Amino acid sequence: RNLKIISSISAMEDIFETLVQHNCSWLKGRFTFYKYQGFWNSKDLLEGTILAQQNFKAQPSDVLLSSCPKTGTTWLKALAFAIVTRAKFDDSTSPLLTTLAHECIPFLEKYDEETQVIQKNSGSPLVATHLPYASLPESLIASNCKIVYIYRNAKDVVVSYYHYLREIQKLSMEDAPFEEAFEDFCQGNSLYGPYWDHILGYWKASMERPGRILLLKYEDLKRDTRNEVKRLAEFIGYPFSVEEEKAGVVENIVKLCSFENLSSLEVNKSGRVRAEGQGATENRFFFRKAKDGDWENYFTDEMKDKLDKLMDQKMSGTGLIL
Ligand code: A3P
Repeated sequence: RNLKIISSISAMEDIFETLVQHNCSWLKGRFTFYKYQGFWNSKDLLEGTILAQQNFKAQPSDVLLSSCPKTGTTWLKALAFAIVTRAKFDDSTSPLLTTLAHECIPFLEKYDEETQVIQKNSGSPLVATHLPYASLPESLIASNCKIVYIYRNAKDVVVSYYHYLREIQKLSMEDAPFEEAFEDFCQGNSLYGPYWDHILGYWKASMERPGRILLLKYEDLKRDTRNEVKRLAEFIGYPFSVEEEKAGVVENIVKLCSFENLSSLEVNKSGRVRAEGQGATENRFFFRKAKDGDWENYFTDEMKDKLDKLMDQKMSGTGLIL
């Protein structure tokens, strides 16, 4: 298997040479995206993506957590992890207290032998990805495993995305103009973008495969956390019993995974994930404001009209409101 992976890596340079590139001018050219199967990706994540596409063996019992970046991935991962491990841990022993949620669940784009071992030994069915639906490993589709997809209002996504990439690249707001990031996003030039195509891929799949794909909306999860968490637990096959509900297990999970709690933990204030490469990041970057409507602090009226119109047009006929 080692040989197979090494030969894939050497072939990867050839693949990169054939891909269209985009250099983000608002990030001072520090981040290059590669267009792969219609969506933008970074070099680091693309290597893992290709390995996962070639080698990942899904089980029908797997549960895939998917999202475009900055739509609530960290929250979804924490909630799903707390739900599936609640028989093993409670809110005082959960690994979420000492480990960033992203590190509790194998990530397809970081697919390697270590990841496979972690997944096998964890006893958890969860696997995570930012990949668009059409790029998922074939075995994932063939396994018919369940998929949970989270999405969020595009205006808040672009603001969250702007700060996240800017912070990773250690650029001030003066050095990384929001207007340019906004234009790039509207042209579809964002990591794992175009954002609307990412959503549409999962939406279409959810229509074709009823009961296998749950679409969750960040704003609904904020507005009605308890019921959405119950819906999530039921969908992934870990429903809360009446006794658990009476004992406050749902509330405890909601509290454990709340922004206020997770963002105040030492690991999420001072820890680091992915120490090297373009995606090197500090855990605290995953926890910013978690507010609906923060876009109002950044958008002009023209920007609002432009993105609203774009999303209305792209989402028309889906019933999804962003
Ligand atoms: P903001 O930048 O608007 O604050 P992702 O996890 O997909 O990277 O998305 C990050 C966004 O989710 C950030 O939004 C972050 O603050 C918010 N977030 C992180 N953890 C959260 C939680 N437990 N509950 C609600 N929102 C959370």
